[in-house]
Amino acid sequence: MLTPTEKIWHNGHFIRWEDAKTHVLSHVVSYGSSVFEGVRCYETAQGPAVFRLREHMRRLLDSAKVYRMELAYSVEELSAAVLELLRVNKMGACYVRPLAFRGYGEVGVNPTKNPMEVYLACWEWGKYLGEEALAEGVDVCVSSWNRMAPNTLPALSKAGANYMNSQLIKMEALANGYSEGIALDVNGYVSEGSGENIFVVRDGKIHTPPLGASVLPGITRDAILTLAQEIGIPVVETIVPREMLYIADEVFFSGTAAEITPIRSVDRITVGAGRRGPIAERLQKEFFGVIEGKREDTFGWLTPVPVLVG
Ligand SMILES: Cc1ncc(COP(=O)(O)O)c(C=O)c1O
Repeated sequence: MLTPTEKIWHNGHFIRWEDAKTHVLSHVVSYGSSVFEGVRCYETAQGPAVFRLREHMRRLLDSAKVYRMELAYSVEELSAAVLELLRVNKMGACYVRPLAFRGYGEVGVNPTKNPMEVYLACWEWGKYLGEEALAEGVDVCVSSWNRMAPNTLPALSKAGANYMNSQLIKMEALANGYSEGIALDVNGYVSEGSGENIFVVRDGKIHTPPLGASVLPGITRDAILTLAQEIGIPVVETIVPREMLYIADEVFFSGTAAEITPIRSVDRITVGAGRRGPIAERLQKEFFGVIEGKREDTFGWLTPVPVLVG
């Protein structure tokens, strides 16, 4: 359950957590007209710092642009507001949820007369698939649900409505005793998890589905591509047939929530040795090295949160 924090940012002002409410007839409630982000603040050796803040805010604005939503704030303004939010709430490690939606006004499908509401909230949050999952790996299935077809719901936009599809994938997986589902795209190729990008390793080379395979352009996905390059592991963005999952040496998820989570079985078929493989482990070492402040932040991924004085 959520533990409330003191303040939420709304359209440029701080309000109390309890006051962050919207009318039931807001456009978003009927039509799913929202875009959002999920960002993590980590407790590093040098104090709290936000992981890839600007990239998340840029993706929020990109997601909004696709839907002709005009947000009144720039990447810089939103990034500064997130830091201020974390400062006033005196947060250490936590999750940040930027959210923009079509509010109250008209009730028809055409959203252009409804005001945009922008919120930034944060709360304490632990590991998504569990602490153990990071070391042991998780058991997943291929979903009977596909990701959205191209030119239906745009996958590059992190819109609330896309998560109706994610919910189908996640609920089915849990109902069948798996931790997560992997969805195929409309052509039957591997796309992504309900809330994670996916990587498949075979013979020392990493494969991940391209942006054209209905995936979200994950910010952790990008971090993995960058880290893999840095440490000299070959990585390709390419179409991944379903059966690659079964014959892979390693499969793992990436995401703000999942971080880097190894997959030890797919559809009850053991992946590789049935536990975290060496490439996932090496990438975890680099990734956690950055976010814990234990290795140099070579790529400038961390933004320190200013400390509240007085
Ligand atoms: C559908 C989906 N794919 C991938 C990801 C991973 O993206 P990121 O690494 O930016 O969190 C997420 C999480 O936001 C997601 O919801």
